[in-house]
Amino acid sequence: MEKTIEWVKGENVSRMLDQTLLPYEYKKINITSTSMMYDAIKTMIVRGAPAIGIAGAHGVNLKALELKNSKVDYATFKAELLEGCDYLASSRPTAVNLMWAIDRQREIIKKETSVDGTVEALIENSIKLEDEDIEINKKIGYYGAEIVPLGATILTHCNAGALATVGWGTALGVVRSAFEKDKTIKVFADETRPRGQGARITTYELVRDGIDTTLLTDGMCAYFMSKGMIDVVITGADRIAANGDSANKIGTCTLAIVAKHYNVPFYIAAPKSTIDMSIKSGAEIPIELRSEEEVTIVNGKRICAEGVKVINPSFDVTPNELITGIITECGVIAPDNLKSIF
Ligand code: MRU
Repeated sequence: MEKTIEWVKGENVSRMLDQTLLPYEYKKINITSTSMMYDAIKTMIVRGAPAIGIAGAHGVNLKALELKNSKVDYATFKAELLEGCDYLASSRPTAVNLMWAIDRQREIIKKETSVDGTVEALIENSIKLEDEDIEINKKIGYYGAEIVPLGATILTHCNAGALATVGWGTALGVVRSAFEKDKTIKVFADETRPRGQGARITTYELVRDGIDTTLLTDGMCAYFMSKGMIDVVITGADRIAANGDSANKIGTCTLAIVAKHYNVPFYIAAPKSTIDMSIKSGAEIPIELRSEEEVTIVNGKRICAEGVKVINPSFDVTPNELITGIITECGVIAPDNLKSIF
């Protein structure tokens, strides 16, 4: 399976798809330094919780290589590498997969005892994390396909697909696995303002795979649910608290509220690495605030009055009572029973 993001051993670079160019251009770029990786995550060249986790792990590889080339002593190497981990983890605040993957690299740094040993072990570990991500998504897809009724229409929000992960996807991984069994399923994809991940990326992925896909604007969900045209809602998540409250792209909570009203099941599909058992509830999840320009400017042109106020939270939190189940690599879990899989 082609990887959205991968470490290229011979070249010592992180190669990733530039997601800001979709759907116009499918272009891979090489990330060659720690600061370039920080910027790639922040500016969303790479985005989606599992994908930015792998990007963070690759960023640690790049920092280790930079320090090795500067020939500092081992104590300085280790101290500055751990600082580099903190720097990379600060690039985006909400998706816990970023911190999770960097913590996996921190464990390696703490265990190894030499510069060369650390560099080699970090690179091997990041490649292992890439491969595990695809395996985990396949398992999520397997369990998730069981809750998708035959011929279902699935509503999704943002992009939780192959392009938000190393491959296959979480919410769209469920769609792909369901499609393998039943070619009649359909997807309704929200466009996902302001960054348009649904319109630009989800429709790109699904149409390329030959899956019947309809694009909606973000306010259309109640119309289609009231007409009985949606059988199930499945989205990804960026961080899930211990009680099952789930942060995902802004607008997800609206879908969950409307789904509850119309008795449509609402599922979150996410790996265990998205679950943050250190926080009790969604109130503790840090929500990223992004720039006003993401809202006020479309295709380089201002679309609203000068002087208007804008607030641009990138995520919202869906309370656990609105979630039918969380589809993980360990099966479909009730949101209030997450501790059973840890
Ligand atoms: O701001 P983004 O595009 O990184 O937000 C992505 C999402 O909200 C996804 O739904 C989530 O990360 C799950 S990706 C498998």
